[in-house]
Amino acid sequence: MSDDFDLGMFQSTPDELIAKKPDQTGCPVTGIAAEFEPFGDAYIANPFEFFRRARNEEPIFYDPKSDYWVVLSYDDIVDIFRNPEAFSAALARHPVTPLCPAAAEVRDSLNISIEPSLVDEDPETHRAHRKVFGDAFTPKRVNEIEPQIRKIVTDYIDRFVDDGSADLVSKLLYEVPALAIFIFLGAADDKAAMVKQLGSTRVVVNWGHPSETEQVDMMKDIGKHWTFTKNLVDNAFENHGDNYLGDMARLHKADPEKFTVNYLYNVMFLMQFAGHETTTQASANGMRALLENRDQWEAVCMDPSLIRNAVEEILRYDSSIFAWRRIATKDTKIGAFDIPKGSKILMAIGSGSRDGKVFADGDKFDIFRKHEKKHLAFGNGVHFCMGAPLARLEMQIILEELSRRLPHMHLVAGQEWEYIPTLAFRGIQKLFVEWDATRNPAN
Ligand code: HEM
Repeated sequence: MSDDFDLGMFQSTPDELIAKKPDQTGCPVTGIAAEFEPFGDAYIANPFEFFRRARNEEPIFYDPKSDYWVVLSYDDIVDIFRNPEAFSAALARHPVTPLCPAAAEVRDSLNISIEPSLVDEDPETHRAHRKVFGDAFTPKRVNEIEPQIRKIVTDYIDRFVDDGSADLVSKLLYEVPALAIFIFLGAADDKAAMVKQLGSTRVVVNWGHPSETEQVDMMKDIGKHWTFTKNLVDNAFENHGDNYLGDMARLHKADPEKFTVNYLYNVMFLMQFAGHETTTQASANGMRALLENRDQWEAVCMDPSLIRNAVEEILRYDSSIFAWRRIATKDTKIGAFDIPKGSKILMAIGSGSRDGKVFADGDKFDIFRKHEKKHLAFGNGVHFCMGAPLARLEMQIILEELSRRLPHMHLVAGQEWEYIPTLAFRGIQKLFVEWDATRNPAN
């Protein structure tokens, strides 16, 4: 695959390498495709309205404007996830908007060596790497940092609990997941905010419509983040701690054939990003859904044993990644449609997770829904999110502590929901709540 398509994370000119547009005869370029505006205000504010109609009317369609085949039904998405030989993940982090020459120049001047790593790796090498890095991501490693994550969450809540109002994103949800992944990896937590800041434009540069200035700035930030990551890994080789990165350093020393040092730089670079932006945004969307469904928020406050299931419902209903990409490695099929080699595929996983064939009344938020972890928030198949147990734990702790300390909070009425327009990531940027601080439960 990689030989055919140079889709590196920051490559700028893939389009000539990607499929010739389908012959329009017989291909499903239809009314729904004409309405598909993935960067339009209405879609960004609420893609689910479009998903519902498209799922019913044309669950697979080709959109000539974006040159994506858009796939909306649960079964078709799962089939794609489960067939990595035909549908490569190489496209996963490729910039949706080609890099401008100025940003490409900065990229070429950087001394970094990005290579496909896990999320965008081809099957042969992915299988071996996933075995090593996935096996080391043990429940023990995740669960042992539970007390530290809880302490961080309570410390952050302490800072604003008496204020009577807060933006939960900036006061809590923005930083906590970054700190959690830092503890997990074994990085000094005083650098978490810096790394979060360095990665802040990556969502828009890889999956959105960035300005040239944003592209150039992100490339400079990439350089700084790479240097930080490289130092982190090099130090772990000198002094491996009792944490995930320490485990990987020990594994490499014991058997350097398993993965190269550069590959380890890459995985750590990936995880520092994948490990928090996603959890921040899913938690924010989830708190909004709970507070908008006041009876369900009160149920959670009365009975914290509901929280585990509530987290699954949040991930199903409005997770942070609502669409993900693949590219066809050969002429193939999705359902009845012929898909030429090189076609870019957009799997609307937010649609699949609401498909009525699998989730009754799928557009309804219902924390009492019986969950069998079928939703697609973490993908499915060989690339299934490696950090899912950590993400679930963090979301659970955040809900436990917020419902315990601030059960009487409510949404500030009339606030507008702001999203960064991207093809893949979805998360409210602010979440204003208020409460009567004189009624705070005793801690
Ligand atoms: C709510 C939070 C999260 C969501 C919604 C999420 C979602 C996803 C999705 C959709 C994928 C791609 C799956 C595929 O291509 O089949 C993925 C992959 C991945 N995620 Fe997450 N993720 C979250 C949190 C995390 C955390 C906390 C980590 C921690 C390190 C993490 C690490 C990874 C890695 C390493 C991969 C690549 C796995 C592979 O390709 O083998 N994620 N995630």
